[in-house]
Amino acid sequence: MKYMTGNEIRKAYLQFFKSKEHLILHSFPLIPENDPSLLLIGAGMAPLKPYFTGKLVPPSYRVTTSQKCIRTDDIDNVGRTARHHTFFEMLGNFSFGNYFKKEAISWAWEFLTQVLELDTDKLYVTIYPDDKEAYDYWHNMIGLADERIFKFDDNFWEIGEGPCGPDSEIFYDLGPERGCGKPTCTVGCDCDRYLEIWNLVFTQYNRTKDGKYEPLAKKNIDTGCGLERLASVIQQKESNFETDLIFPIIEKVIAISGGDYNDPRQKMAMKVIADHIRAITFMISDGILPSNEGRGYVLRRILRRAVRFGRLLGIKDLFLAGLVDTVLDILGDEYPETREHEALIKQIINTEEKQFSATLAQGMELLNDMMAHVGDDKVLTGAEVFKLYDTYGFPMELTEEIAGEQGFKVDKDGFQEA
Ligand code: GLY
Repeated sequence: MKYMTGNEIRKAYLQFFKSKEHLILHSFPLIPENDPSLLLIGAGMAPLKPYFTGKLVPPSYRVTTSQKCIRTDDIDNVGRTARHHTFFEMLGNFSFGNYFKKEAISWAWEFLTQVLELDTDKLYVTIYPDDKEAYDYWHNMIGLADERIFKFDDNFWEIGEGPCGPDSEIFYDLGPERGCGKPTCTVGCDCDRYLEIWNLVFTQYNRTKDGKYEPLAKKNIDTGCGLERLASVIQQKESNFETDLIFPIIEKVIAISGGDYNDPRQKMAMKVIADHIRAITFMISDGILPSNEGRGYVLRRILRRAVRFGRLLGIKDLFLAGLVDTVLDILGDEYPETREHEALIKQIINTEEKQFSATLAQGMELLNDMMAHVGDDKVLTGAEVFKLYDTYGFPMELTEEIAGEQGFKVDKDGFQEA
């Protein structure tokens, strides 16, 4: 395995699929077009749904992209695990009724083992239990031993309405030293040892609004390969955060805060900030502005969470906009739309950080007071949490996270009522 930068891996992926007659498309914006089932684009295939269903004619029946993605389902895990992110880049190759399982499997293997030169002994795959065709390709065509092919019921991929189907995931074994050590530890274990690096989805159904699965007239391929994960393997880093796609941002946070990356609490705060500033930069550059609903609320929530973690690191002045330059140094060439909106991105961040900073200290005082006087159930009432939101600009989820750190809960239903 040879060292490659994150930018080199992205380029190698796109060029590899170009050599297999795929058209390279620029990433689609983060705001979904004509898809009310999604708030934000969270996978490479999401903006391509009309091509899969046949609603639109694609510019080519083979396409490859590096798609900007935002996922917020696991936002509280960001900074706590090696690989949760709000923003990430998803590499993908797509077939709209063109090639199917055979090519998808053989090209994924060729890219991983011949272009990236990953050690074949470290690769494992999973398939949907009924998918005999995928099993045969992995076993007979690629030559993967039976014990390296795992069958799981949850090998089925979908995102909102639209195209979906059984999938086959490729895992890389990071070694026993990264594992939980349990005798049962194997592919599918929750620990860090077996890292999913690529998902090949055999898109053959259309999920309707009312949850039905209709067979599609033509079978498709949708794949998703997280660039930051792949970089962590190639660059042999402990987590995605130490790769050259993210670590320069952490170095800047260290320089601003004088913090210590070896201190676990500070390390987590730095990872949260580095992750969130990437999301903030890309969301604003795609036209999302902080607000109290929808996408704007997601942005506000991420931004205010980053500000709070900055204050936990002891940073007193406005600092977030100062990190945008580093994000652009790393990703600005690949996504020129971020550079185009640099001034606006910094201005929005500064305004929002200033506003929240003005009330953060007072809000924290009030929250500490609430926690000191809470009942035996340790649940903060909806009215209290709403006051923090309404008067001090604390997104409910932020209050929940801060309270949770000290063993308190919030009454979410009560908050909604309030
Ligand atoms: N669309 C495949 C994935 O995101 O894993």
